[in-house]
Amino acid sequence: MAVGPVNGMAAATAAARRGSEGPWDLARYLDTCATSPPSEAVLAAMAAAAPLVWANPSSLHGFGMAAAEALERSRCSLAHHLGAQPDEVVWCSGGTEAIQMALLGLAAQHPVGRLVISAVEHPATEAAAARLQQQGWQLARLPVDRDGLVCLERLEELLQSPTRLMSLIWGQSEVGSLQPLETIAAQCRRAGVSLHVDAVQVVGHHPIDFASLPVDLLSCAAHKLQGPRGIGALLVRRGLSLEPLLGGAQEAGRRGGTESVLLAIGFAAALAAAQERLQQHGGVDPLAELRDGLLQNLRALPGLRLSGPQPASAARLPHHLSLLVSTAAGRPLAGRALVRALWRQGYAVSSGSACSALKGRALQGGAQGGAASPILLAMGYGAEEAASGLRLSLGPWHRAADLEALPQALERARQEVAATF
Ligand SMILES: Cc1ncc(COP(=O)(O)O)c(C=O)c1O
Repeated sequence: MAVGPVNGMAAATAAARRGSEGPWDLARYLDTCATSPPSEAVLAAMAAAAPLVWANPSSLHGFGMAAAEALERSRCSLAHHLGAQPDEVVWCSGGTEAIQMALLGLAAQHPVGRLVISAVEHPATEAAAARLQQQGWQLARLPVDRDGLVCLERLEELLQSPTRLMSLIWGQSEVGSLQPLETIAAQCRRAGVSLHVDAVQVVGHHPIDFASLPVDLLSCAAHKLQGPRGIGALLVRRGLSLEPLLGGAQEAGRRGGTESVLLAIGFAAALAAAQERLQQHGGVDPLAELRDGLLQNLRALPGLRLSGPQPASAARLPHHLSLLVSTAAGRPLAGRALVRALWRQGYAVSSGSACSALKGRALQGGAQGGAASPILLAMGYGAEEAASGLRLSLGPWHRAADLEALPQALERARQEVAATF
């Protein structure tokens, strides 16, 4: 019997578990920074709630009140785990929407001025910045060093008038750099500049206490930490008002549209599990140790270099490795070709530049005609090297044994791609 796309997807989803046979074994899924599979606990929490909380949480009858109670419980849980107040949580569809809501919503409350972002932002922030430029805002980019860390010596000058807003990617998705948020946030406070932080890659991997962070707005998304796709949250500091992107009475007038209670339940369950894991390990993501072991094995191979901060510096996302791949003679190889070659061996990784390339941003030609990553270009790499990036990102389902065969697979992929030169 022919398997249609839906049947095929169902088979893939059912099989996508640790230890399953064939290409759907999660042990070889190393693309958590793109998205992560919902955990069993998340799926169970959502399945248990699905028949009970389908109603509109704004409805005044019992069905609606049951949904509203579940939504508010999820809000309280999320707030608790992020050190925020429940009324500081605004549900939305994901990281992209949270970022747009923060930047466009806050800018609308200010006279036109200057927005400062780093040179290594996610395309969602770049898109919001471009929209503000159309509205007459100036845009300044804080440069980064070779590790993708912002140049703090330029910050004071850029925070001068007419700067009113700053947006910063805390954990960079492509090269893993963790920016010194506390230092930057304190400088923004002193300069009277409002700060939004894109914490999409950080939440669940690093303890967060919104109450003590001197930031005004914080964006996060469930699907990066084994929650469902289609839900995120913006934390909005009490007392701060935002012009809503989507009008409507829901979310205290801050984001219109009937809330998805089920997705909120899934998000809260995913964050609770991630926080518990962090707590059990003294606030340190245990994936860092696995990642360090993998890096040690990869360092023994020819043609691989780390991009972004050294793991030992603590300025790197704990579940993240990014590499630049070349021939043994040092000629950069196309990251995208390596991704395909690794998938032929069952490993799911990323070239790190897919998001930017998808967005259609002007990209320079790179290795073997591949697309150069704007992030690596901003870090000072040439066009060829900037197209040779490979990202490996781990999830809590990984065990050391899962990663043992990866270095050889990567070496085979590297030789395969090098042979096409
Ligand atoms: C740092 C960062 N910010 C924002 C986003 C956008 O989040 P979403 O995919 O939930 O819209 C991503 C997703 O890759 C990200 O990595």
